[in-house]
Amino acid sequence: MAREGSTSSPDATGPERPRDSLLVPVHEPVLLAEVVQLLAPEEGARILDLTVGAGGHASSLRERAGASGLLVGVDRDAEVLEIARRRLAATPGARVELIAGSFGALAELRARLPSSAYDCVLLDLGVSSWQLDLPERGFSFRRDGPLDMRMDRGSELTAERLVNECSVEELRRIVAEFGEERYAARVAAAIVEARRSRRLDSTARLAAIVRAALPPQPAQRIDPATRTFQALRIAVNRELEALRDFLGRFELVLARGGRLAVISYHSLEDRQVKNAFRERAREGDYEPLTRRCLTPAEAEIERNPRSRSARLRGLRRLREEERR
Ligand SMILES: C[S@@+](CC[C@H](N)C(=O)[O-])C[C@H]1O[C@@H](n2cnc3c(N)ncnc32)[C@H](O)[C@@H]1O
Repeated sequence: MAREGSTSSPDATGPERPRDSLLVPVHEPVLLAEVVQLLAPEEGARILDLTVGAGGHASSLRERAGASGLLVGVDRDAEVLEIARRRLAATPGARVELIAGSFGALAELRARLPSSAYDCVLLDLGVSSWQLDLPERGFSFRRDGPLDMRMDRGSELTAERLVNECSVEELRRIVAEFGEERYAARVAAAIVEARRSRRLDSTARLAAIVRAALPPQPAQRIDPATRTFQALRIAVNRELEALRDFLGRFELVLARGGRLAVISYHSLEDRQVKNAFRERAREGDYEPLTRRCLTPAEAEIERNPRSRSARLRGLRRLREEERR
């Protein structure tokens, strides 16, 4: 069972894993049973997973929908779609279509979807373990890689550009706001000082600069560079803008009677989801499926530490005859 309403620190890291690249998908879906229960796909359901990643949630949902159902998996990372394709090919269930795109551009994306209305829509925000574990994607401070952090490798903004080109004040704001780092001013000053001697281009060097900038800390669960890396990733991928855009227009893809579930990993995301869902319910066209957010049980956190900051919320769009 999931616990209700608890919070935990934002941290997207976990134990070291062997680098098994494309062959073995290592992302373990978070709150899987809860998501399946909340979205409750019936035989023949049309499912839209807008963050299909390694296809973990998608494969379970797809099984429930059966052969007459449809599963559309979207991800802005075209490389990750290959992982999803392999995983989904190994499981039975609904017909599958995989599409590269962003839920932050829903109107444009909708025009490319095989159906315009879905019974179950899922957003599982953030990065997948697969992305985190590949040093060349630049998300990880555990293994050295280029300072990239783009989910969509076609986009222009990289973490390297941010850390080398932003003003000290812009960096401080990013690290404070998106990383909730108390010592953001120190981190920003240290980055600006370090780039004077040499352009910053590696995750290991950036992590060392951040750690050195922070005051000595008691033995911790998480690496002190985690918050800064999270902040840069959110800024590079404009994650909060994409979420805000989606939350303002999800009726474009959600059928009447359909259910929407969102898993967030950061209080800024969760606040947006909570407020948007509350507003929709107040307007009388939706009903909440979760009174408070659901969070992983201790056993899941132990098994998969990356799940520890997850919060799940759900909403159902009322049928025409149910509207108040
Ligand atoms: C936490 S993973 C999803 C894992 C997936 N639920 C599973 O079980 O394997 C999040 C995925 O969302 C993708 N993503 C993040 N922001 C996105 C956006 N705006 N549009 C589409 N995909 C996005 C990432 O590239 C990543 O693959």
